[in-house]
Amino acid sequence: MTTPSTTAPWLRESATFDRGVIHEIQRAADTGIYDIRGWGAKRKLPHFDDLLFLGASMSRYPLEGYREKCDTDVVLGGRHAKFPLHLDIPITIAGMSFGALSGQAKEALGRGASEVGTSTTTGDGGMTPEERGQSKNLVYQYLPSRYGMNPDDLRKADAIEIVLGQGAKPGGGGMLLGQKITERVAGMRTLPMGVDQRSACRHPDWTGPDDLAIKIIELREITGWEKPIYVKVGATRTYYDVKLAVKAGADVVVVDGMQGGTAATQDVFIEHVGIPTLAAIPQAVQALQEMGVHRGSGDGSVQLIVSGGIRSGADVAKAMALGADAVAIGTAALIALGDNHPRFAEQYAEIGSAPGFYDDFQAGRDPAGITTQDPELAKNLDPVDAGRRLANYLRVLTMEAQTLARACGKSHLRNLEPQDLVALTVEASAMARVPLAGTTWIPGAM
Ligand SMILES: Cc1cc2nc3c(=O)[nH]c(=O)nc-3n(C[C@H](O)[C@H](O)[C@H](O)COP(=O)(O)O)c2cc1C
Repeated sequence: MTTPSTTAPWLRESATFDRGVIHEIQRAADTGIYDIRGWGAKRKLPHFDDLLFLGASMSRYPLEGYREKCDTDVVLGGRHAKFPLHLDIPITIAGMSFGALSGQAKEALGRGASEVGTSTTTGDGGMTPEERGQSKNLVYQYLPSRYGMNPDDLRKADAIEIVLGQGAKPGGGGMLLGQKITERVAGMRTLPMGVDQRSACRHPDWTGPDDLAIKIIELREITGWEKPIYVKVGATRTYYDVKLAVKAGADVVVVDGMQGGTAATQDVFIEHVGIPTLAAIPQAVQALQEMGVHRGSGDGSVQLIVSGGIRSGADVAKAMALGADAVAIGTAALIALGDNHPRFAEQYAEIGSAPGFYDDFQAGRDPAGITTQDPELAKNLDPVDAGRRLANYLRVLTMEAQTLARACGKSHLRNLEPQDLVALTVEASAMARVPLAGTTWIPGAM
C-alpha cells in the first residue's frame, strides 16, 4: 500500500518515488551538481534502539543504584605505549577538523571533555593551540591528507590516531569547500584560500597492512614509544580490517559505523556505503577475540572504540555490552554544544533550514557558530558555556549507562556482556548476534 495524503486521500504517494526522491531529481536537474552535506546517514537502519537489556531479577542480582558503585574508567593503549590514556569515562570525543569546525567549537570540545576526564581528538586540519590548551587528553589524527601534520604536534599529543577511513565515507576522502578556507585554515593546511579542497582517500606513502606496520613503528620512533597508536576504520569489511590493524601493531582500533557523522560528504556516499554500527561491533569483537587481544586479555589487550550514531547512555551501554571498551561521539557532541538549537530558529529559517534539520555544514553559515569559519557567526558560540553544556551531556550519558549496568548487576561498565541483551527484530538479532527477545534464536548463528 502506498501512503495516501492526509489532506487529499485520493493522492497516493509512491513508495519508490516519494517526495524526497522527486525533490532530489528536480534539484539535480536544476543544478547539475550532486548533493553535499554534513551529518550521518539519515535512512532508518538497524541500530541500538533495536536492542533491549535483560535487567536482573532472580537468576541475576542487580546492584543498588544509590549505594553500590558502578565504575566507568578505561585505560586505552597499554599494548605498546609507555603512557596509555587513563580516562574517567569511556565516552570520548571523535576527531572533527578545525576548518569544518570553528576554533571556538574545538576549544569548547576540549573544555567539555577535560571537565569530565575524557579525551578529544584533532581532525583533518591539524592541532590548534586553543584545542591543545583546553584538552587534558588530546588524540592527534594522522590522516591521508597530511593537513596540519608536523612532528612537533605529534609529540604534543597524548595519543595518535591513524585514520584509514570514516563510517560516513569508507573509501572516500574529506571535503572542505572554499567558503570555509579562511586565511587561518589555509595556513594550517598549506592550501590556497577560498578554493575547494578534497583530501585524499588513502595515505600517500603506504598501500597495505605491511606498510602500515612500518608506518606505526616510524610514528612510535618519532614519539619515543610513549603514545598509544589508534587505527580508525570506516565499517565495511570490519572483521578483516580489525585483524589487519592489530597485526600491524595498533594499540587501539576505532570502528566508525555508517551512521557516523561527517562535515561534508556526497549524500550518495553517506547513505549507500558502509555497514551499520550494530553490524560492525560483533565483527570487530570476533576479530579481537580470535587474536586473543579482546578486553580482559591482560597487558596485550587492544581496545575497541566504537562510533557512529551514539546518542544516549543506553547506546553507550549497548555498545559496551557488545564488546566495545569505549565509544566516540561526534554529532551528539555538536548538538550538546548548541548545534541545531531552537534559539537559532529564525536564522536557520533564513538559510532554508530549521532546528533539528540543519546539515549544511559545508556551507559555513552555521548560526550556532560551530560549523563555520565566519568570525561573526563564530562569536555566537561561547566556548566556556558550550564546554559546560558538553560536560553536562557527557555526565548524563555516563549516569544513564551506569543505571543500566547496575540493573544488570554490573559493578563496572566494562562488565556488561552480550548475554545482557536481546534484540527486537530479526535483523538486529542477526547483526548484533544476540537472541531475538523471548527466544534463544540468533539468525545465522551455528
Ligand atoms: C563536523 C564533523 C567533522 C568531522 N571531521 C572528521 C575528521 O577530520 N577526521 C575523522 O576521522 N573523522 C571526522 N568526522 C567523523 C567523526 O570522527 C566520527 O567518526 C563520527 O562523527 C562519529 O559518528 P557520530 O557523529 O554519529 O557520533 C567528523 C564528523 C563531523 C560531524
